[in-house]
Amino acid sequence: MPLVTTTEMFKKAYDGGYAVGAFNVNNMEIVQGITEAAREQHAPLILQVSKGARAYANHTYLVKLVEAAVIECPDIPIALHLDHGPDFETCKSCIDGGFTSVMIDASSKPFAENIEITRKVVEYAHDHGVVVEAELGSLAGVEDEVNVSAEDSSYTRPEEVEEFVSKTGCDSLAIAIGTSHGAYKFTAAQCTRNEQGVLVPPPLRFDILEEVSRRLPGFPIVLHGSSSVPQEFVKMINENGGKMPDAVGIPEEQLRKAATLSVCKINIDSDLRLAMTGSIRKYFADHPDHFDPRQYLTPARANIKAIVTHKLIDVLGCAGKA
Ligand code: G3H
Ligand code: 13P
Ligand code: ZN
Repeated sequence: MPLVTTTEMFKKAYDGGYAVGAFNVNNMEIVQGITEAAREQHAPLILQVSKGARAYANHTYLVKLVEAAVIECPDIPIALHLDHGPDFETCKSCIDGGFTSVMIDASSKPFAENIEITRKVVEYAHDHGVVVEAELGSLAGVEDEVNVSAEDSSYTRPEEVEEFVSKTGCDSLAIAIGTSHGAYKFTAAQCTRNEQGVLVPPPLRFDILEEVSRRLPGFPIVLHGSSSVPQEFVKMINENGGKMPDAVGIPEEQLRKAATLSVCKINIDSDLRLAMTGSIRKYFADHPDHFDPRQYLTPARANIKAIVTHKLIDVLGCAGKA
């Protein structure tokens, strides 16, 4: 089947109590690792591309890689989404250039300005059969060049969501309930430590999610910053020359719970980066004389497939739902 929008996926996910995984892609091995997992698990899939990915790999290369994946995976629905679109022009370029979904992220702007920018993107996107994700509230962490400190992040205010959605006409809404971008999501001071000495972050604000859902019945909610920073890969990186102390993510059980509620899309990027980097570091530690990229990228791609398979089955609950 051709690339799809997220409309049907989200309706089924909302009704079925699961979420669709949205994974960031930057090169062929990442696209292949993710899509092989989704094809095997018969899971719906969102492949997303950031501004940084477009700058790194080039729009056309990324679109063509995703089109190749669509040909290789004819039995699962795949959407191609712009992640954190910074402005109207970037969204327009992706809408004109084959994407089926865009995010306009004006969450750092004042409420009225966020509405105005989002509405402009929605009008253009809907005229071209493309759907729009918007954001209210702001997450801590690093996305593209923007680094939002924990003090500058803010939870979504549920009392604003109805006005925002009705005035913008957006198709899904990303909210801030305590998730955060990157592999260093929380400072040690924000966390407690478990018996293994691993940091345990503060719990997600399910009260905010529930209030948003009460005010927007049936409306798809999105969670960004939802990597869980598997300690197995942090260890693999640190045992093979890396230095990632206190990297910690969102506990998977909390994401699983969110997926059973109104959260229909969960964004995961850092976990795939950790899997890829850990695999490559280990490969070189084990084979210091090798230099063929196909050799060290093979276990990297296999570990991306393995972590995505785990997410589809155990976290998102979307395996078998295509
Ligand atoms: O939230 C952002 C995604 O992880 C993409 O990251 O901007 O480094 O491509 P990037
Ligand atoms: P992570 O950094 O937690 O993987 O979040 C990715 C994300 O939100 C992409 O938009
Ligand atoms: Zn994000």
